[in-house]
Amino acid sequence: MKIELTISEIQQQKSAAIIISLFEGVKEPSGAAGSVDGALNGALQALLAGGDFRGKRNEVAVLYPAGAIPAQRIILVGLGKREKFSLDVIRQVAGTAAQKARALGATQLHTVVHGAGAGDIESQQAAEAVVEGTLLGLYRFHELKTELKDVRSAVEELTLVTADRSQAAAMRAGIHAGESIAAGAILARNLINRPANIATPTHIAEVAQEVAAASGLTCCIMEQDEMAERGMYSLLSVNRGGGEPARMVILEHNAAQKNLPTVVLVGKGITFDSGGISLKPGKEMWRMKGDMGGAAAVIGALQVTAALDLPLHVVGLTPLTENMPDAFASKPGDVVKSLKGLTIEIINTDAEGRMVLADALTYSGEFQPDAVLDIATLTGAKVIALGAHVAAVMGDEELTARMRTAGKHTNERVWPLPLFEEYGEQLKSDVADIKHLGGRPAGSITAGYFLSKFPPEDVPWAHIDIAGTELSNKARPYIPKGATGFGVRLFVELLRHWDD
Ligand code: BES
Ligand code: MN
Ligand code: ZN
Repeated sequence: MKIELTISEIQQQKSAAIIISLFEGVKEPSGAAGSVDGALNGALQALLAGGDFRGKRNEVAVLYPAGAIPAQRIILVGLGKREKFSLDVIRQVAGTAAQKARALGATQLHTVVHGAGAGDIESQQAAEAVVEGTLLGLYRFHELKTELKDVRSAVEELTLVTADRSQAAAMRAGIHAGESIAAGAILARNLINRPANIATPTHIAEVAQEVAAASGLTCCIMEQDEMAERGMYSLLSVNRGGGEPARMVILEHNAAQKNLPTVVLVGKGITFDSGGISLKPGKEMWRMKGDMGGAAAVIGALQVTAALDLPLHVVGLTPLTENMPDAFASKPGDVVKSLKGLTIEIINTDAEGRMVLADALTYSGEFQPDAVLDIATLTGAKVIALGAHVAAVMGDEELTARMRTAGKHTNERVWPLPLFEEYGEQLKSDVADIKHLGGRPAGSITAGYFLSKFPPEDVPWAHIDIAGTELSNKARPYIPKGATGFGVRLFVELLRHWDD
C-alpha cells in the first residue's frame, strides 16, 4: 500500500473515502469534522442530534456528500470517551474505518490523524498508530485460497491529512515507523497462519534469509550436524520423532558493532506440536501450527529493528523443529545432556518447548549479551492463569518492568509471575541433574524456573510466555481472527526505548 502525508484540509480531498472521527457525546463537531460539517450544511450535526451516531468507540457511520465536497463518501468513526483515549484507541478506530472502507469497495483513503492535538499524544505517535491500525486491520491471510469470493477490493492508497504544517516531519517519521512495525507483525502473522506442512523449519529459515537479504541483517542458519557437534542434545531430543530437519536461525542487526549494547531474543519455534509420544488429544490440535509464534515474533522484531536502524546490537535465535511421535522419538523417562552440560530427565514429551529453549538460551552466551529475552508459546497453564489476551513475564526484575511498560504502550500486555527458589524443588530428578517438568502446581512458573538454569551466568534474562495469544478466536479492530503477531510490537517497543 502507498502511504503518504498531505498538508491540507480533509474536506478538500478528492478521494474514494475520507475518514474523520468524533469523541463520544460531542454535539457540535470542531476541527476537521467541523469543517466537513460546514461544507455539508450541518449534515454531521443532524446525525448527532438525531442520536444516530453517538461516537462510541469503533462506531461507524457513512455519509454521502453528493458533490458538496470532492470525496465520494465520508466514513465517520467514534473515538469513545475522551478520558479513555489512547494510542490503542487510535489503532482500533483506524483499523475499523479501513475495514469499513474496504467493505464498501474504496481503494483510496484519506484520513485525519485521530488524536493529533488531543491530550498528551504526540503527533508522531498518533500517525504511527493510524498507520499500524490501518495495515494490521486490513491484514488477511488468503495466500492459500484459490479464489477470493468475499473480497471486493484491496485498499491501495492511504493518505494522512493534516492542516498543521509544523507536524509534518513528525508525522512522516510516524508513518515510516508504523509501516515498518506493521510489516514485521504481518510477517509473523503469515508465518503463524501458514500450516505446518508449509511452514517447516526449512521454510522459516528460508524466509529469515530473505528478510535478512532485504533488510541488511546478517543471517546464519545452523543445521543439525552443527547442533550435534556443539552438544545441543536437549534441542535435538525434540526433533528425533520429526520428519523435518531441525534448524536454528541466527539473525543479527549491527553484527559488527561490538561497542553497542547486545540484546539477544530467543523464540520458541515448534513448527507443529503434536505432543510427541505424550500425544495431545485431537481436539483443536491444529492450533499447534502456531507453536512457532515465539520464533515468528523474533524474526518479525529483527526485521523491524533493521528497518528502524535501532542503535543496538540485536541477535535473534529461533530453534526450529516439529515435535512428532515416531519410532525414534524421545520417550518419557529418557535422559539427555544439554549444551550447558546439565543432564535432563524428560518426563512428558509434550513439554518440548523448554527443551529447545534451554540450548538456545545457553548458546546466546556466544554473543556476550547485556540481556537475553525469550518468548514462547510455552504452557497451557499460562492460558488458565491469565487467559489468551495477556502474556506472562518472569525473570530479571528490571527487564520485567521494561516489558510491562512496553506492553502498556503497545497493548501487547504482559503480567509478572514470580520465580521463587522453592519452585526449584519441583524439578528435582532421581536420575538426572534436573527434570523438565514440575507437576501441576504453578505450571508456567516451573517452566520458567527450568529455563532460568540455562542462560549465561550473570546476564539479565526474562522469559515471556505467550501461550494462547498467538492465535485469536475472535476478530478485533486491528487483530483479525487467526495469527496476531503478538510479540513483534512488544519487542520493538522495548528495543526502541532501551536507553530510557
Ligand atoms: N505448546 C504447548 C503450550 C500451549 C498451550 C501453547 C496452549 C499454546 C496454547 C506446550 O508445548 C505444551 O504442550 N505444554 C504442555 C505442558 C505439559 C505437558 C506439562 C501443557 O501446557 O499442557
Ligand atoms: Mn507441547
Ligand atoms: Zn509446544
